[in-house]
Amino acid sequence: MKILNQYFMYRTNTCGELNISHIGQNVTLAGWVQRIRELSGMTFIDLRDRYGITQLVFTETGNSALYKQIGELGREYVVQAEGKVCERSSKNNKIPTGEIEIVVERLTVLNSAVTPPFTIEDETDGGDDLRMKYRYLDLRRSAVRRNLELRHHMAQEIRRYLDSEQFLEIETPVLIKSTPEGARDFVVPSRMNQGLFYALPQSPQSFKQILMVAGFDRYFQIVKCFRDEDLRADRQPEFTQIDCEMSFVTQEDILDIFEGLVKHMFRTVKGITFNQPFLRMTFDEAMNSYGNDKPDLRFEMKIHELTDQAKGSGFSVFDNAEYIGAICATGCAAYTRKQLDELTNFVKRPQVGAQGLIYVKFNADGSVQSSVDKFFAADKLTEWGKTLNAHAGDLLLIMAGAHRKTLGQLSELRLEMGTRCGLRDKDTFVPLWVVDFPLFEWDNEIQRFYAMHHPFTSPKPEDIPLFESDPGKIRANAYDCVINGVELGGGSIRIHDAVLQQTMFRTLGFTPEQAEAQFGFLMNAFKYGAPPHGGIAFGFDRLVSMFAGLDSIRDVIAFPKNNAGRDVMTDSPSPISAEQLKELALTVKKIDS
Ligand code: AMO
Repeated sequence: MKILNQYFMYRTNTCGELNISHIGQNVTLAGWVQRIRELSGMTFIDLRDRYGITQLVFTETGNSALYKQIGELGREYVVQAEGKVCERSSKNNKIPTGEIEIVVERLTVLNSAVTPPFTIEDETDGGDDLRMKYRYLDLRRSAVRRNLELRHHMAQEIRRYLDSEQFLEIETPVLIKSTPEGARDFVVPSRMNQGLFYALPQSPQSFKQILMVAGFDRYFQIVKCFRDEDLRADRQPEFTQIDCEMSFVTQEDILDIFEGLVKHMFRTVKGITFNQPFLRMTFDEAMNSYGNDKPDLRFEMKIHELTDQAKGSGFSVFDNAEYIGAICATGCAAYTRKQLDELTNFVKRPQVGAQGLIYVKFNADGSVQSSVDKFFAADKLTEWGKTLNAHAGDLLLIMAGAHRKTLGQLSELRLEMGTRCGLRDKDTFVPLWVVDFPLFEWDNEIQRFYAMHHPFTSPKPEDIPLFESDPGKIRANAYDCVINGVELGGGSIRIHDAVLQQTMFRTLGFTPEQAEAQFGFLMNAFKYGAPPHGGIAFGFDRLVSMFAGLDSIRDVIAFPKNNAGRDVMTDSPSPISAEQLKELALTVKKIDS
């Protein structure tokens, strides 16, 4: 345990540092009363601070005034204790201070505390909502504190690496004009410009590009970003990016530098060295083989298409489907009826949204059994098995329907089977770059293209002629860093040519006036000599939660929002006063609840 350099007046040591080598020393500690136990005429107090827990001991036969005083203590009281470091008779080898205790000679109550609403220990009895309401108490738990310590350590390592690569950390404003990143903006009304609004940045995208025009060459920022979108375990309305931009670089240069960053983080923080370059996979390959643009490559179980092989046997689900695909779960042929029903229910959940699931079992005894036996002879089923390289003992799981949708459903099923088969070990990390994303996606509802990454992403030069003939086929110089099925980061080479940027806006359905109104400032800057540039942003919360082995980014954020986007500790969002509304020239319509 690291020792404080200076203790000032209140303490000589922390609660995490004293051990057998300190026996006999007179010390003063300060901290919170975690637990009070009485045992045969002695009282033990676990005193906690940020650094650990030290046992204090009081004997009935010792100082009686002092003994009386501890009767008044309660959990989470803040106390200062002076005494001698002594060897413990019953040692606790689970904590670094477990061989000693402090025989207290003087105790000062620095503050009292009301009884906390849940126990402040690793295993707490507090539910999620309660812990969020009293987040300051939750943060006293060592498990949560450790996550924030890890976050701090990682932020230092990021700065160390990027600094060594000549990146400058430059702050960009928080009250800005809207930047399009695909989510809704949070907006802030302006008092001085009534009726007008700032947006909070979904990312510093435009500013970092302008910094490149300004000649800053290599920029980074560990920065808060704000997006008003539906929340999930890996999404918060305000989250932190490691935001970076570089000039005079190609995609290859960027992947190289940031592969270096990820490797540096794994090496320095987790002690894991990747000797090989990260895997690369095109977007098309990821979608076709894993149904997903962020494949979890800790396990194989690729998706294979069976459309041509499985159509035309009178089974209407297949005959009417645009696409038929399957995965092969090794060693799962022995799945029971109940297990198969569970899987069917899994894919029918609204989050997955499939109609049903078809199986083929390649039994260990060589027999083949399927839920579509009636329509397909054994040799047909065996042919599918060959396509998926299935062996005796394996289970094929097949789904059919619209192309992209079915791939997405197979992807969910694949991840579920990976979990069930124990193939998603939290301590195994398989990083990869997904490259060659499409530049546009077609939105059927509003019948127009939208930018898959953002409107400043450059197309691959060889695909530029497709703007005229088939924009949907244009590939972008865009890339994502994916580890274990988590999109950790994404970026692109930007457009720095004004004419190409205008073509881009036109394809996205902006009139020149709309483009000017929304992006005029950036386009103007570009008139003054924009260097070729590109960048990337990593989700810092996601990176920390992955390193901590956690499933939710909330656990690595000091003050997160709940699933309804609320901060239940400060009770926000909340109404503002009539006076504030008046100053802002705003009227709130009556909200129906
Ligand atoms: P993008 O939108 O891909 O790119 O975001 C970059 C990374 O930020 C993380 N992330 C989030 N983390 C938590 N909560 C959220 N709501 C959330 N949204 C995104 C993800 C994601 O990979 N300006 C571009 C980057 C660039 O082109 O340089 C951008 O923001 O890990």
